[in-house]
Amino acid sequence: MSEPTRTATLTLDGKVINLPVHHPTIGPDVIDIRKLYAEADVFTYDPGFTSTAACESAITYIDGDKGELLYRGYPIEQLAEHSSFLEVCFLLLYGNLPNTAQLADFESRVRNHTMVHEQMHYFFRGFRRDAHPMATMVGVVGAMSAFYHDSTDINDPWQREVAAIRMIAKLPTIAAMAFKYSIGQPFIYPKNSLDYASNFLHMCFAVPCEEYVPNPVIAKALDRIMMLHADHEQNASTSTVRLAGSSGANPFACIAAGIACLWGPAHGGANQAALEQLREIGTVDRIPEFIKMAKDKNSGVRLMGFGHRVYKNFDPRAKVMKESCDEVLELLGVHNNPTLQVAKELERIALQDDYFISKKLYPNVDFYSGIILEAIGFPTSMFTPIFALSRTVGWISQWREMIADPTLKIGRPRQLYIGEQQRDYVDVRHR
Ligand code: CMC
Repeated sequence: MSEPTRTATLTLDGKVINLPVHHPTIGPDVIDIRKLYAEADVFTYDPGFTSTAACESAITYIDGDKGELLYRGYPIEQLAEHSSFLEVCFLLLYGNLPNTAQLADFESRVRNHTMVHEQMHYFFRGFRRDAHPMATMVGVVGAMSAFYHDSTDINDPWQREVAAIRMIAKLPTIAAMAFKYSIGQPFIYPKNSLDYASNFLHMCFAVPCEEYVPNPVIAKALDRIMMLHADHEQNASTSTVRLAGSSGANPFACIAAGIACLWGPAHGGANQAALEQLREIGTVDRIPEFIKMAKDKNSGVRLMGFGHRVYKNFDPRAKVMKESCDEVLELLGVHNNPTLQVAKELERIALQDDYFISKKLYPNVDFYSGIILEAIGFPTSMFTPIFALSRTVGWISQWREMIADPTLKIGRPRQLYIGEQQRDYVDVRHR
């Protein structure tokens, strides 16, 4: 841990408590309160962790006011323009961009693990056909620990490495299988001559009776979507993975926990919810009615795909995603799609509205990703699984960073208890 550079002083009932202040490489200083309870007999209260740094990390940095996102120091805009998803995976996992030989070796290692254990095909068949693909993914990824026993020992660095590669390689296969199962089509095995994104498109859209050739422009757009979602600091699902992992749970179980957390509409489920909301709005003339509801707290309606806990200026991922969206729609000749028209008008109106301006609510990455994914041909139920397979590398990088830290402790928050004080049991006849 960085050496403290300053000291913060807390005075409580006349007692002075000195708290070391750590200085990160970038970002706000961090007051170290680890000894606070022992010294002052108080906890800190921060529901939603709005002011809490839960760990040290060297992977991803976000400056919400500047709208900046860096993976290992590299701006997301540069990576989205010049890099590829697998190169970004290498960067997140190992800390630096690979040279040509390292990248070729990494790609080949991932390629060697794209198939899933054949027995897993039968496991899929236990699910109802109408199950949401995220429900299936939570189950199947959790079940990977039942199929890959040789990579569940978290104390063995080699097993941790194999588990990481297996998950990056197999998550697209599992997501595609969940999709195929839900539409009653046969599973399509991975085709390792294809690049990562094309392979996923192939597993989703090919059928055994016809030739399917993935469109390289679509594959590039999908690859970019994956890069933009690859990691995002200590968000809800990543924190879930870390918390699950802090108990020593195996990596497959931890990633399944992350997938479960990601599913919620406030997090990764927002891409599905945003597109469904655009469809519900239906026509441009209904937008004012929806904006009115979104501003009324009692309506229970929020504009999905708007707002972010950290970004209070703009979401840099949304900027890149918007450009990609325009490119893909142009390529596919989608101009008069009603959902797209509603999206564009909704964005225009919301960005001029005092409510959204004053609360710093801007379109986030999920606002545009759904439009692209729909244009590519994915049903809304596949939007969050695609987010999940893209975020897997971030989860696993954060998990590896945590496990390798010799000071790792089980995550165990405390609480502000507001329940009954101790009272005596009363026999049921006397209540
Ligand atoms: N529509 C209308 N009002 C909103 C919205 C919205 N989308 N988002 C926040 N607000 C209001 C909220 O009512 C609150 O008002 P007030 O201060 O008067 O009480 C204020 O803005 C702050 O909201 P909050 O819920 O305290 O903010 P948060 O940081 O806890 O929540 C968020 C962030 C992303 C959960 C929230 O903006 C939201 O629910 N957005 C819609 C869901 C969404 O698009 N999620 C995807 C996030 S990006 C992808 C990812 O990282 O997973």
